Amino acid sequence: MNYNKKTVKDVDVKGKKVLLRCDFNVPQDKVTGEITSDKRIVAALPTIQYLLDNGAAIIACSHLGKPKNGPEAKFSLAPVAKRLGELVGKEVIMAKDVAGEDAKAKAAALKPGEILLLENTRFEKGETKNDPALAKAMADLVGPDGIFVSDAFGSVHRAHASTAGVAAYLPAVSGFLIKKELDFLGGAIGNPKRPLVAILGGAKVSSKIGVINNLLEIADTIIIGGGMSYTFSKALGGTVGTSLLEEDWLDYSKEMVQKAKDKGVKFLLPVDTVVGDKFAADAESKVVKASEIPDGWMGLDIGPETVKLYCDAVADAGTVIWNGPMGVFEFPRFAVGTKAVAEALSKTSAVTVIGGGDSAAAVEQLGYADKMSHISTGGGASLEFLEGKELPGVACLLDA
Ligand code: 3PG
Repeated sequence: MNYNKKTVKDVDVKGKKVLLRCDFNVPQDKVTGEITSDKRIVAALPTIQYLLDNGAAIIACSHLGKPKNGPEAKFSLAPVAKRLGELVGKEVIMAKDVAGEDAKAKAAALKPGEILLLENTRFEKGETKNDPALAKAMADLVGPDGIFVSDAFGSVHRAHASTAGVAAYLPAVSGFLIKKELDFLGGAIGNPKRPLVAILGGAKVSSKIGVINNLLEIADTIIIGGGMSYTFSKALGGTVGTSLLEEDWLDYSKEMVQKAKDKGVKFLLPVDTVVGDKFAADAESKVVKASEIPDGWMGLDIGPETVKLYCDAVADAGTVIWNGPMGVFEFPRFAVGTKAVAEALSKTSAVTVIGGGDSAAAVEQLGYADKMSHISTGGGASLEFLEGKELPGVACLLDA
């Protein structure tokens, strides 16, 4: 897949209307609806500011949550309009619909330097079906000279009307966020400084199959931690007590270890494990051999020997890709392994690329965010990127 795409800098936006797809799918307080992290809004600011500074009128759009039955107040983008307005320092006009009468009227009246935010794109049934009629109606909002700018990296794995469909009707380029994501993620898997070390963690082998398959072709070393390591451990003959286990993936796990051997890829598994007597922050804990987790105990973190092994492996890496925590980092007692790996990454001179979702949350929560080369803003999107899949929201953009 070509990651070298035209950006806003490659087109003339002066006096034009720009349909800007952002990923404003922000977390909100369940009771008050208040935005609990505005990171995704902040991440879109460089592109928004550039467009404003260069004389464009912005018609921004995004989905929020997963509304299934048309408009619903709790999924309204109104709180995003308010926060975006505060961040940009100017009013953000809110449309009552996506491409209906209100959006059309407000888009037609929009002047350079102004921002209009459409309502949640998923209020339209055609959005997730990538309905050409909806895509065309959205494209029409910016008129015949309009441009589509996508900066919604978190949604590029979705072939929806607003993420990909509109590109059939408008010149389509990327914003600065997508450019940065493509540069780092694309660089890490397309042209990495070697050795390339991939650290894979998280709960399930089944959710990382695509990533393991793809990285086995690319990486020099693969490091396995987190809940998924117990399935590998069992597959290799170990006992796992009450640890997370995916019986259906035992054969696959064994095959992957063999495949790594055949390909000369170093495949590191935990040698020791911190186990707990229950899944709780205050669980009794002890360190055991990774292959000998006793009955009634569950693995909740990598052990100290494993920490040393993994930290040594990243010390002289050229590039490190990290996707998935090493243990239950939400419980301080079992966050030690994840923290140690984050710290090792903060000290290496390697390019460090952190996948979105849990790994990003772990690095941020543990205080190492500003020490990484790049933390992806896309959870599902970065995963599919690492799987080597074509991403519809990237493929639809003009090649540079
Ligand atoms: C995300 O939060 O990963 C993106 O906004 C995509 O959301 P979705 O999984 O609802 O498509």
